[in-house]
Amino acid sequence: MSLMRRLIDELPAQLRWAAAAEVPELALATEGLVLGMGGSGFAGDVAAVFAEAQGVRVAVHKGYGLPGWAAAGHIAVVAVSHSGNTEETLSGVEAAHTAGLAVAATATGGVLAQRASEWSLPYLAVPPGAQPRAAAGYLAGATLRLLESAGVVTGTVAALTEAADVAEALLAGDAPAVAGEVAASLRGRIGIIYGSGPLTAAAAGRWKAQLNENGKVPAWWSVLPELDHNEIVGWAALPAIGSDAVGVVFLHDGGEDARTHRRAQLTAELMAPVHVAGTVASRGAGPLARLFSLVVVGDLVSVAVAEQAGIDPVPVAVIERLKKALAE
Ligand code: PA5
Repeated sequence: MSLMRRLIDELPAQLRWAAAAEVPELALATEGLVLGMGGSGFAGDVAAVFAEAQGVRVAVHKGYGLPGWAAAGHIAVVAVSHSGNTEETLSGVEAAHTAGLAVAATATGGVLAQRASEWSLPYLAVPPGAQPRAAAGYLAGATLRLLESAGVVTGTVAALTEAADVAEALLAGDAPAVAGEVAASLRGRIGIIYGSGPLTAAAAGRWKAQLNENGKVPAWWSVLPELDHNEIVGWAALPAIGSDAVGVVFLHDGGEDARTHRRAQLTAELMAPVHVAGTVASRGAGPLARLFSLVVVGDLVSVAVAEQAGIDPVPVAVIERLKKALAE
């Protein structure tokens, strides 16, 4: 089994680690702001979905500094960086610290861990590992636990446990076969992932990023119902691109609006001859389990895409080169 497949298999254990982690105390807040990029920023997407289901706002900032509104809010800022060295995230932590906001951090170490120690920020260290995107269970779990410690969300331990159970069942069950079928249908094509609401939009973003980083292929994502108001028209003039160069995957979730399913069917029909590479539905009861059920399948698809092309999914040399060039 390849290293990346082994790391995907570790997801349930990572979620259980987070459920059992000892979490520092945070100042109480009414909403959250997660700072993070790429594989680490996905933890913020997960937290936003989890919080929304509880009627709470957790925003995600993927860039330098802080969003303009942040200084005025009663917010818990959680900085997430697997390496602890991501310059955009570090700039946000510095801005938040300077503005006197309550900041907590999670990382494997790096400058973020140093800042947390210098500035006495609540800090939750996650176990070191191969790649940020392969630490999604640790990073999302730690972020949720920190937000719960600030009183922003509740019930994270039970939710992480359910997510781990569902992920485990899928990995031992039909997920590898389902993923293999979707990957075969995406062979030689650009993946376009369509979500159908906030939970599946977060999953679609993860699928896209994993196809990029593990599969080393271009991929994009979009979300219903918004795409029915623009993107659906955009396939018309270049039918050969739709039929031969791309593969659309629809993601569904039981929590989405009842109209969305019919919308997705009509969208697929009206987009023809755009190639539909598959439809995947979430499993589980709670939002965290449902989101991670889609993550598991998408992660496996991305590795299968790499394997089909004879590519090692693990290295992301161009990201490293870019970071090095920026540091110089
Ligand atoms: O997957 C990757 O390697 C990237 O998307 C990184 O997660 C991103 O560059 C941010 O780095 P870090 O996760 O160390 O903060």
